[in-house]
Amino acid sequence: MHCDITRCYHSAVPRRGKFITFEGLDGTGKSTQLRRLAATLRAAGHKVVETREPGGSSTGERIRKVLLDSDTAGLSPRAEMALMFASRAQHIAEVIEPALEHGSIVLCDRFTDSTEAYQGSGRKLGTPAVLELHRILCGDLQPDLTILLDSNPAMSVNRARRRNKRKSRTSSRGHADENRFEQETRAFFSRVRDGYLSIAKREHARVAVVNASGTPAQTHRQIMEVVSRKLKF
Ligand code: TYD
Repeated sequence: MHCDITRCYHSAVPRRGKFITFEGLDGTGKSTQLRRLAATLRAAGHKVVETREPGGSSTGERIRKVLLDSDTAGLSPRAEMALMFASRAQHIAEVIEPALEHGSIVLCDRFTDSTEAYQGSGRKLGTPAVLELHRILCGDLQPDLTILLDSNPAMSVNRARRRNKRKSRTSSRGHADENRFEQETRAFFSRVRDGYLSIAKREHARVAVVNASGTPAQTHRQIMEVVSRKLKF
């Protein structure tokens, strides 16, 4: 018998909120763009929840520390993927689903496309494993819209490395060390980018690719265009 937890996210009651995810390589400006979109939507009167992965719940933020700290040595790719999904399952149950049920617009910095791009392509664990785990552990919850910020991998990763080094230097003032992924090779990030572009091709109705190599204001304008076209706000 096919009895699974997906049913609780697919009940007959229509979901009132909207779920928008931001994706892209490290340093493409996702967090900045997410904040700008949140401000614009709030100014237009919408209820908005800003959140992120890995993390987003108190348990998830603890898992995030383990995943991103460069002191986490020898974590196997499968253990890494399992922790990403553990954080996500908690995040969906504790934050995302309740907010959607409340009618909020949930803006999430990374979701399962990150696992498909980083663990599936980057770590070579493959797409089928990620999609299967998403179905089992996340009830196959799909975003209404995904904004994929695309820019030159070398440029964006260098930007992320500089930012995280700056933050770690001030770690005594409470910033976490989040350098583990930024230490990966150029080949890794190029696989991640290819992974993202294949997702965008396969899921073209959901994923909008936005060129993130211009100024933050230019990128924000493109995002607003996509959001109003796709979600008809
Ligand atoms: P994030 O804080 O968004 O980093 P950045 O601001 O540099 O883009 O994400 C942290 C790292 O976690 C990032 O390198 C990507 C990685 N990650 C995965 O590998 N798999 C996942 O499923 C998620 C959510 C993130």
